[in-house]
Amino acid sequence: MNELVVSELHAGYGGAQVLHGVSFTVGEGEIGAILGPNGAGKTTLLRALSGMVKGRGSVRLDGVELLGSSPDTLARRGVAHVPEGRGTFMPLTVEENLRLGAYVRRSGVDADLDRIYGYFPALKPRLKQAAGSLSGGEQQMLALGRALMLRPRLLLLDEPSLGLAPLVTRELFRIVRAINEQERTTVVVVEQNAHLALGIAQQAHVLETGRIVLSGTAARIRADEQVAQSYLGYRV
Ligand SMILES: Nc1ncnc2c1ncn2[C@@H]1O[C@H](COP(=O)(O)OP(=O)(O)O)[C@@H](O)[C@H]1O
Ligand SMILES: [Mg+2]
Repeated sequence: MNELVVSELHAGYGGAQVLHGVSFTVGEGEIGAILGPNGAGKTTLLRALSGMVKGRGSVRLDGVELLGSSPDTLARRGVAHVPEGRGTFMPLTVEENLRLGAYVRRSGVDADLDRIYGYFPALKPRLKQAAGSLSGGEQQMLALGRALMLRPRLLLLDEPSLGLAPLVTRELFRIVRAINEQERTTVVVVEQNAHLALGIAQQAHVLETGRIVLSGTAARIRADEQVAQSYLGYRV
C-alpha cells in the first residue's frame, strides 16, 4: 500500500507562507495531478513532500509520517523527486547520472539500468555521453530514469513538459503512465499543461495561492468546461 495522504499541509520559506493547509489523497498506484497557475505553490508542495522545505501538518505514505524527515531519509523510504529544471548533472555521463539515482541502494543496480533502458531506449546508445549533450526531451527522460533507479514508491514530477516539444511531451507522459502501470508507483505530477496531466491522472487538484480550490476525478474536471475556464483559465 502506497497511498499518499496529505492533510492540512502548511509550508513556505522563512516567514513567507506559501501553502495554507493543503489536503488531498492519491490512491495507491494512482496518478494525482496538481494543476494551477504560475506561483500557486505547486513546486513548494512537491518540495515539502520530498523534505526539501519544512512543512507543518501531515504527509503520510502507507500510513507512515513523512514530514520532519530529511530529503535523504525520504529518498531511502522511496520518495523520488524529479525537480523543476530536471536536476541532472550536466558534466556527468548518462550512466553516471543514472547510477547516482541508485545511491541509496547497493544491489540490483545493473539490472535496474537495463530496466531504465527498456523504458527509455534512446538513452542506451548515449550512456557514455555527457548529460549536457542531450536534447531537452532526452534530459527529462534521464531525470525520470534517475528517479526510477531509486525504485520509488512515490514519484514526484514537477512540470515534466516544461520547454519540450508537444510530440516529446506526449511520449514522456506515455512513459510515465507505463511506469505507473507496470511498477504500481504512486505518482504526483505537477503541470501547467492541464490537458496532458488530466489525460493520465485519476484525480486532479487545482492549487491557487497555496490552497486547493477544486478537487475531482480527472475525467470530471476535463469534462467540465466551465471549471476549466474559471479555475484553470483556459480550455483543457
Ligand atoms: N526559494 C524561495 N524563497 C522564497 N520564496 C519562494 C521560493 N521559491 C518560491 N517562492 C515563492 O513561493 C510562491 C510559490 O512558488 P512556487 O511553489 O514555485 O509556485 P509554482 O510552482 O506553482 O509556480 C511564489 O510566490 C514564489 O515567489
Ligand atoms: Mg513550479
